Amino acid sequence: MEWTKEARYRLYKSMTAKERMELERLVSASIWRQNYHIQPMHGLLNDPNGFVWYNGRYHLFYQWFPFGAVHGMKHWFHTESSDLVNWENKGGALEPEFSFESHGIYSGSGYVHNDSLHLFYTGNSRDDEWNRHSSQCLAVMDELGKITKLNKPIIEKQPKGYTEHFRDPKVWEEKGKFYMVVGAQREDLTGCVLLYESSDLIQWSWLGEIRTKAREFGYMWECPDYFTIENHGVLLFSPQGLQPEGDSFQNIFQSGVWVGKPLNLENGQFLHGDFQELDAGFDFYAPQTTLSPDGRRLMVGWMGLPDIEYPTDTEGWAHCLTIPREVMIKDNLLCQRPVRELKEMRKTESRSVMMLSNELRNPGLLSGESYEMIVNIELGNARRAGMKLRVGKGEETLIYLDAKNQKVVLDRTDSGTKFAQEYGSVRQKDYSKNNIRLHIFMDNSSIEVFINEGEIVFTSRLFPRKDSQGIQFFAEEGTAEIEAVQWEI
Ligand code: FRU
Repeated sequence: MEWTKEARYRLYKSMTAKERMELERLVSASIWRQNYHIQPMHGLLNDPNGFVWYNGRYHLFYQWFPFGAVHGMKHWFHTESSDLVNWENKGGALEPEFSFESHGIYSGSGYVHNDSLHLFYTGNSRDDEWNRHSSQCLAVMDELGKITKLNKPIIEKQPKGYTEHFRDPKVWEEKGKFYMVVGAQREDLTGCVLLYESSDLIQWSWLGEIRTKAREFGYMWECPDYFTIENHGVLLFSPQGLQPEGDSFQNIFQSGVWVGKPLNLENGQFLHGDFQELDAGFDFYAPQTTLSPDGRRLMVGWMGLPDIEYPTDTEGWAHCLTIPREVMIKDNLLCQRPVRELKEMRKTESRSVMMLSNELRNPGLLSGESYEMIVNIELGNARRAGMKLRVGKGEETLIYLDAKNQKVVLDRTDSGTKFAQEYGSVRQKDYSKNNIRLHIFMDNSSIEVFINEGEIVFTSRLFPRKDSQGIQFFAEEGTAEIEAVQWEI
């Protein structure tokens, strides 16, 4: 199908029964539908939005274009869960109605106040010359799930000195006031985050930029989020336009954090350390955090990237969200771990322990395409040791320790259907210890690997054949001990 402007900028409610059936037929033939990740029923999913605990449940919305795997008219799709494991699709939640949002309901956040869920989003519109206009907007959801939009933006446009790239409001409360960060671009085409303040969530005043130590760090910062953990301030955002640097910034766009002192809300000063890229894998972008009712800081990301073609694009759907993770700070690094609730998904358990000596072996019972696995590798004198996953005819995905180069490596060169090849097919991070713990979540078309305490994470899509389900352990040029426990999901 040809994606003309008319085909891209349509409302979900204009979808005909025939179109829906055709999409459903295409999607149901896909071998890469996920088992336990949040994915669109059809169409394209991107950023998580409005992630919040409200009225006894988690609410998690996402950017959604219903008609196919392209970025067109964005809606918010709504899902709900009481346990972060079972998600219930509630349907489309926000769709364009007003002129200020005529070309999409862009990303934003949720904030609960006075028993109502306030949904802050960016109204994206285009004029006749296709110039972009962005405003920050508000919709309010009540306990029955009824959503009412304000009929005009709460922040009509960007301040002077900034371009129309002005989006993705995230709201929080501190010392009796409300604050909002918005991703922005200065007129000199550098990215930054703008800070706003309000006492009623409706009237907002601009306080200025968040003053960081990076004057030039990419051309646009998307999806900012600010939060504190213990006594640390954390500014999370997705900068665009960073150049690759060693093993870092290998994907088209990045996302990461600065960990520092709590933000000074009087003058916008944020004292922070070095930029920490949040993921070492191939497919991770635009994450958003929220607080659980028991005080944990939870994070979900988009397991995909803009401007990249994915193998399911021809199947009427694209992308999924990551598993929910808990984030914490250890030695000034933001670490991520799978939320403990995910243990509920564990089914049959298998175990294997092996001493390997310059060999490749099948560890008995372990195999599969949807599982959780915890692996401990003790490097003896092997040059490389690790695992091959999703092994099948001509297919394998490798995760291993490279002792010679002191790296931990994810290699998807032969994972299956190839895509995004121009960005390479190997990702690695410095790693000098001779033991490692890998906590792996494999789903039908993705892998998430949490290393040790979660200080390194690899998040990636994989598109193997259905029958590529083997698991093998290996040690090259020496010995290693590998111990694994696996649960089917
Ligand atoms: C990030 C992003 C956001 C924007 C949304 C539109 O992936 O570009 O900045 O609000 O996607 O779908």
